[in-house]
Amino acid sequence: MKAIILSGGKGTRLKPMTHTVAKQLLPVANKPILFYVLDQIVESGIRDIAIIISPETGGEIKKAVAAGPGWDAEISYIVQEKPAGLAHAVKTARDFLGDSRFLMFLGDNLIQDGVKKFVSEFESKSADALVLLKEVSDPRLFGVAELDAAGKILQLVEKPKEPKSNLALVGVYLFKPDIHRAIDRIKPSRRGELEITDAIQELLNMGDKVESHILSGWWLDTGKKDDMLEANRIVLDDLLKRDVKIKVGAGSKVEGRVAVGEGTVIEGSTVRGPASIAPNCKIINSFIGPYTSIAAGTVIENSSIHHSIILENCRISDIEHLTDSMIGSSTTVTRRKSVSGPVRLFVGDDADIEL
Ligand code: TTP
Repeated sequence: MKAIILSGGKGTRLKPMTHTVAKQLLPVANKPILFYVLDQIVESGIRDIAIIISPETGGEIKKAVAAGPGWDAEISYIVQEKPAGLAHAVKTARDFLGDSRFLMFLGDNLIQDGVKKFVSEFESKSADALVLLKEVSDPRLFGVAELDAAGKILQLVEKPKEPKSNLALVGVYLFKPDIHRAIDRIKPSRRGELEITDAIQELLNMGDKVESHILSGWWLDTGKKDDMLEANRIVLDDLLKRDVKIKVGAGSKVEGRVAVGEGTVIEGSTVRGPASIAPNCKIINSFIGPYTSIAAGTVIENSSIHHSIILENCRISDIEHLTDSMIGSSTTVTRRKSVSGPVRLFVGDDADIEL
């Protein structure tokens, strides 16, 4: 069994963040989403992995993976020249995949409890494909499956105007090589992409066996700012353990499940978990509230932050109530006049904001 991770794409919905960073490298609880995906694939026993990258952000992804913690797997890279769709990405990986069964994992998706169970289920079955489904509140934004009373898939439609169910296709798929034949038979959709949803529908048309599994745990699709904050909240809530690597001074409190990296200084401040503070930060006379992740080298002074993701080397000064925000690396946010009420920001890298 092999795996491909789709880490190309445009990332339009996460601009301005994705002007400078590949979205799969954006951190959730201070760890790139792609690293969770790699962890989950390796945990499933797959050792032969290819990451599909774009010409624009591929170099950055290769560099980040090489500098990562290391995985017990052979990791290769395949450049997809244009973001021409998920099925097009599979086409690009055809030589790598050969006649193998494979797991396809979108590099900006995460599921609770990983994929091990589904990989072993698929290995022992005769099905040509296994798809994961999850109930969602607005299925019009997703590929949607219609099932019969026995749970068999009748039809799959990409972003339907009038969805026949609330079951969305999760970004984790298992295929036998017959999917390549199906991909060869489909045409680009109205938005000009070769859709994997259409290819799976084609498998059904060809009489192949497509099984589905409805997920009960969480599924995170981190395509937009609010999805990122939600992913950060859920991962901090679910996976974070208390791990404070520094000595907290007498004037500060670090309460609950909080991770603090080496070299970080916390003075005259309260950090209330779940929260993650990376190495070499400075938290001075501030309150860091639940569901906040602060990346390495960032300085927070005289401020209060809740439910936010702050990237590396930022400086946040004198902001009384920063909430629901995502702030790119090397950005400064300072206050000149008194600002009343909450401040909500979504800013990319290298910004300079004076309120
Ligand atoms: P999407 O989020 O569907 O697409 P996108 O990255 O282009 O984002 P947006 O809609 O905001 O512009 O992609 C899901 C994942 O698949 C993501 O990790 C990017 C990757 N991908 C590819 O590798 N190749 C592709 O051709 C496409 C469309 C996506």
